[in-house]
Amino acid sequence: MFICQECGYQSLRWLGRCPDCNTWNSLVEELSSASQISKAGPDEHRVSFPKEEPQPIGAIESIEQERFTTGIHELDRVMGGGVVPGSVVLIGGDPGIGKSTLLLQASDVIAHRKKVLYVSGEESVKQTKMRADRLGSVSEGLYIVSETNLDSIIEFVNRLKPGFVVVDSIQVVYQQALSSSPGSVSQVRLCGQELTFLAKKTGTSVFLVGHVTKEGNLAGPRILEHMVDTVLYFEGERHRSFRILRAVKNRFGSTNEIGIFEMTGEGLKEVLNPSGIFIEERPKDISGFAVVPTLEGTRPLLVEIQALVSPTNFAVPKREARGVDYNRISLMAAVLERRIGLEFGRFDVYVNVAGGVKIVEPAVDLGIAMAIASNHRDIPFDSECVVMGEVGLGGEIRAISQIESRLKESARLGFKRAYIPKGNASSLKREIIDMELIPISFVKEALDRTFSERR
Ligand code: TYD
Ligand code: MG
Repeated sequence: MFICQECGYQSLRWLGRCPDCNTWNSLVEELSSASQISKAGPDEHRVSFPKEEPQPIGAIESIEQERFTTGIHELDRVMGGGVVPGSVVLIGGDPGIGKSTLLLQASDVIAHRKKVLYVSGEESVKQTKMRADRLGSVSEGLYIVSETNLDSIIEFVNRLKPGFVVVDSIQVVYQQALSSSPGSVSQVRLCGQELTFLAKKTGTSVFLVGHVTKEGNLAGPRILEHMVDTVLYFEGERHRSFRILRAVKNRFGSTNEIGIFEMTGEGLKEVLNPSGIFIEERPKDISGFAVVPTLEGTRPLLVEIQALVSPTNFAVPKREARGVDYNRISLMAAVLERRIGLEFGRFDVYVNVAGGVKIVEPAVDLGIAMAIASNHRDIPFDSECVVMGEVGLGGEIRAISQIESRLKESARLGFKRAYIPKGNASSLKREIIDMELIPISFVKEALDRTFSERR
């Protein structure tokens, strides 16, 4: 059987391109016993007759979902307030970003109250101990084993009965009945399935570490993401010290909270008050910078948008984005060109969000536009001013959500002025914000205002 390593599509003959997910070169031959076993799944939860009748929703008893804390506040926050017993969490991230470090630190704190089993498939017990010593993790209840055989791992869990299990990583675990190699679709799927089943049966919470491919997706089939309760991504630039933990799926909480950590010599430290950390190195009076208060979950975070517009001799100028969506750069450049008359046809445009933060919300649009325009005209943007607003194709500024908390945080960090969407201005209680608020309805207005004052 040939199985697509991206989506799990099965075919009897080899194909250059998966007809299901259109990925090239993703079909790999795996012996068919593999697919038979994985289809059948663990026998125990197959029933030939239904055990339970459907019930009216009102008749079902509510249970308070009890959770236990990991002792790492930022991790708890991202998961919605702690770990739910019996849940399965998948944590993905680039190699070396700090997944093992984070989970070892969490394991140590949890081990004060529950037994914890840390299964390290990638490092030996000694190596893990060395790391633990460095982190100061030496709880009595923390058990370490280096094992990649799935049956042995399940056996250890049944014997030790831990409340918390870490499997680092799911890509090296294998079930010997399958002939395909560890990390292949059928291995990852079956091991994921069995570990999920184990978690539900024993009430143990299981954390799986997953590797990320070059494209930034979790390696192995998407099916793993569907199987687990929570999917977390640990991201950041490897050579910078800040790390961001983000939930992309969460059955027990929201997915918009982020946790921020700093990698230090003694492991990961929580950054409890992160709103200002990404603008600390900001240069003043250089063109091409704008500060935007973005909102990640319930916490505002001030980020610096940097833009560089540079002349090119190539026929097709470059657009490059780091930290924001590539398409928004092209869009903002197009809006600036058509609505304001700035020319970009012979210029490369680079936009970067400082500190390795990724921003998806459209409230950052005006910041991108201001940074690009500022660098294009080589006039620095007011360094005591924050900007926010979604930009439409007409160059109009649209209202954004939760403007008050964004403004309060900006004021707290010492900003004196803010460009805000006109649509937000009327509903805003101005007296509670200690800043000059400048309502803007078109990008042109914002630019005219800035550049006429500062020329
Ligand atoms: P690690 O947790 O091994 O990453 P992952 O499991 O995601 O592959 O983290 C490895 C990096 O973290 C490594 O480059 C060294 C660095 N590090 C520190 O800076 N301080 C520490 O205390 C530890 C344990 C690691
Ligand atoms: Mg690791």
